[in-house]
Amino acid sequence: MQSDADNIPGQTAQGHMIAEHWARLAITYEGAVAELRSRGIEPDKAVSEDLHELDMIHMGGLAATDSLAQIAQIGRDHNVLDVGSGVGGPARRIASKYGALMWGVELSAPLYQTAVRLTELVDLQERVKFKLGSALALPFEGLEFDGVVMQHVAMQISEKSQLFGELSRVIRSGGYLAMHEIFGAKGEEPRYPLPWATEPAMSSLESLEDCLDRLTHLGFDVGDFLDLSEDGRQFHVRAIAAFNRVLNEEEGPQGISVEATQVRLRASESMEENLRTGRIRVGMIVCYKNKG
Ligand SMILES: C[S@@+](CC[C@H](N)C(=O)[O-])C[C@H]1O[C@@H](n2cnc3c(N)ncnc32)[C@H](O)[C@@H]1O
Repeated sequence: MQSDADNIPGQTAQGHMIAEHWARLAITYEGAVAELRSRGIEPDKAVSEDLHELDMIHMGGLAATDSLAQIAQIGRDHNVLDVGSGVGGPARRIASKYGALMWGVELSAPLYQTAVRLTELVDLQERVKFKLGSALALPFEGLEFDGVVMQHVAMQISEKSQLFGELSRVIRSGGYLAMHEIFGAKGEEPRYPLPWATEPAMSSLESLEDCLDRLTHLGFDVGDFLDLSEDGRQFHVRAIAAFNRVLNEEEGPQGISVEATQVRLRASESMEENLRTGRIRVGMIVCYKNKG
């Protein structure tokens, strides 16, 4: 039987692999609810903050989403689109803490469904809405957003011109694109597996320099790059220790399965090395769409 997930405009062979990958690894609604209970929080009393240790799928977690929102100066009632919104953690945070009206677009149907359910659980559904869709064919008219945020998404999409063309299309003149992204080093292959890719076909790292050129050519005024590579490395050092504690049963499952924990451990080990050796960089850039 065909489902909505089989008919997503902009879907690609790489996108199929990526969507399945995240469906295997990301937290589920049931996993999040079980984890809340194990922390003594009744799910129907939970607030957005209670979920943020579980619902951020990027280096730096909650603090990174806060930094991005602050650098971009996201404010009350800004209309903001979160591209590749995962299970909705960043979108809920930007709505609840900074007052924005959020849309999220997510390619993986299970993550999209988890995002919707967790948002209802913490009663943010009036301010945070999601669509199942692709960044390569954003399901919006165009020019309607004050800003777009994107955390750890571009590195798994090979059609860069189409991706950034779509982001530009939906941002109003003078609006912002706030990215927290992962970059490769020219001519160097990273060590696999990566958190987003068990094999090279699932990864499409671009160098920072190429990304900045692309943004300039598209008519963005580009701000400074905030290099978070060392913070990212330390994030993975802590993650390795935490995954080992879970696998050695010194700690509870944190809402994910043993298999997913093992996969994430191996990916964190690669990332620690990739970030230490400069084969991968991570950081933030905020840029503004020219008014001309
Ligand atoms: C590393 S996760 C980050 C999720 C979220 N931004 C966060 O920081 O919590 C990457 C997400 O991007 C989504 N994604 C990948 N390619 C996409 C595409 N073409 N369109 C929309 N979402 C996509 C994945 O399914 C996944 O949920």
